[in-house]
Amino acid sequence: MKKSGILYSKEELEQRIAQIGAQITKDYQDKNLVLLCVLKGAFMVFSDLAKCIDLDAEIEFITLSSYEFTKSSGKVTLKGEFNIDLEGKDVLIVEDILDTGNTLSFLKEFLKDKAESVKIFSLFTKDKSDLKLDYTGFKIDDEFIVGYGLDCDQKYRNLPYVAILEEA
Ligand code: IMP
Ligand code: MG
Repeated sequence: MKKSGILYSKEELEQRIAQIGAQITKDYQDKNLVLLCVLKGAFMVFSDLAKCIDLDAEIEFITLSSYEFTKSSGKVTLKGEFNIDLEGKDVLIVEDILDTGNTLSFLKEFLKDKAESVKIFSLFTKDKSDLKLDYTGFKIDDEFIVGYGLDCDQKYRNLPYVAILEEA
């Protein structure tokens, strides 16, 4: 496996995230915002997005898994216990990428009776799932991307930009 050139630079990512952060700030003025980071993939966008939201938001983390190498196993599981009290809270799920929709469908269903409202931000979408995103950064082709939190076999997450992964 090798990665190709840059698909989105650090600057392009940051600019788009700042726009969405400003929109979220407007939309959640009178709400009790909880930003929920879906680990591990969203860790980098989560940090940048949170800094662009000018509200007293609570910060929470959840770990799910569905991917093995570059193929979705289709089976989504929650890692560890979930004991965050979301009663009366407006949860914004922060995810790296929407692919088949298995992960986010599972999470939305899991949270829906636990919170006042549940919305979804995903930095990228491959636009092939019926799941509705409330906020999204970029539509991409059906390719496997890495960097800026996204991995292949746990590597490339620390790249400050996003690249397409290609067969060697
Ligand atoms: P879904 O459940 O098929 O929508 O997959 C969502 C999860 O798979 C994301 O949270 C990512 O962790 C991972 N994933 C999907 N597509 C990619 C990709 O192109 N690069 C890296 N990870 C991906
Ligand atoms: Mg993920």
